[in-house]
Amino acid sequence: MTTAPERTAYPPPGMPPADVVRVRDLAVVVGDKPLLVDVDLTVRRGERVGLIGESGSGKSLTALAIMGLLPEELHPSGSVVVTGQGPAGGERVTSVLEAGEPGLAAMRGRDVAMVFQEPMTALNPTMRVGAQVAEIMTIHGTVADRGAAAARAVDLLDKVGLPDPADAARAYPHQLSGGQRQRVVVAMALANDPALLICDEPTTALDVTVQALVLDLIVRGVQARDAGLLFITHDLAVVASVCERVLVMYGGRVVEAGPVLDVFTRPRHRYTRGLIGASDLDLTRPDGGLYTIQGSVPAAGRFPAGCVFRNRCTHATTTCETVPEWDGPGPEDGFACWHPVVHRG
Ligand SMILES: Nc1ncnc2c1ncn2[C@@H]1O[C@H](COP(=O)(O)OP(=O)(O)OP(=O)(O)O)[C@@H](O)[C@H]1O
Ligand code: SF4
Ligand SMILES: [Mg+2]
Repeated sequence: MTTAPERTAYPPPGMPPADVVRVRDLAVVVGDKPLLVDVDLTVRRGERVGLIGESGSGKSLTALAIMGLLPEELHPSGSVVVTGQGPAGGERVTSVLEAGEPGLAAMRGRDVAMVFQEPMTALNPTMRVGAQVAEIMTIHGTVADRGAAAARAVDLLDKVGLPDPADAARAYPHQLSGGQRQRVVVAMALANDPALLICDEPTTALDVTVQALVLDLIVRGVQARDAGLLFITHDLAVVASVCERVLVMYGGRVVEAGPVLDVFTRPRHRYTRGLIGASDLDLTRPDGGLYTIQGSVPAAGRFPAGCVFRNRCTHATTTCETVPEWDGPGPEDGFACWHPVVHRG
């Protein structure tokens, strides 16, 4: 396995990193039920951003919106702009919610790639894995011809640490282990040097020992390409080790965002405080006891009016019946809570 970067950094030193995705006021409804409300999110070149929150908080919907994969019946609104590299080397800007299928097909797998939890969802069971990795490059024309695609596919399988990559290229997905299949998916996702890689719980289906290896591949892969990473997980320790910034979602809204260290050591939103308290990360509990957030996540679109966390929050007052205003210098740094945690010192 090599640790050398596979590509030179882009943009060149001195040039400010560009946004690879900018989401503003993203909203999604099903019938009269809001699933996402006013979601703002930015990832820049070379930046690793975590997206956390309990099950049903809207993390995957946000990722699918960026990929242009939301079904029409969810009526996405707002704006999602992806900036990748065009075929002639210039920028390609895709306004995802307005783009037609040809524009989205050109963007997916090229400007933005995604790794899901279960590798079999991304792999064709009837096709050899080398051919699948090669195909993603020939579709987007990022290699000269099929021969070059096949050779680069073997090279990519080698770089993600598959032993005997030439043999592995000839294997069908069912002939590989779960961890090996996820390595193939990572190789496919990185094949076209995407500007943004989205990972949605990429390691939760894997053995603990394999998890760390796949995580390492992802981080080295985006670093080598100076790509942005949006990393969705329930594992706060992974976010702490992988990401620089984090967004906390609950009830289809971003309730807190900021640099990982700040958010994890000095959370302001009561929900973030609960999430950290309930995780292994919280080393501050004097009694060593297990902290839990009371109650459970409401059904889709059935969150209370006002603050969405109101029915579970021990600090809720009548003020919380009004939607909390965002408090912070910008959408990437702040929180939305009327009675935030106060940290002394
Ligand atoms: N196509 C759909 N139609 C109706 N409701 C949906 C649809 N897709 C998702 N939802 C609902 O939207 C909410 C948010 O879903 P989402 O998949 O984004 O959650 P998540 O944060 O990724 O959760 P998890 O951690 O379990 O993956 C959930 O309550 C889900 O049931
Ligand atoms: S706004 Fe009110 S209900 Fe919501 S988290 Fe803050 S204190 Fe709790
Ligand atoms: Mg999800």
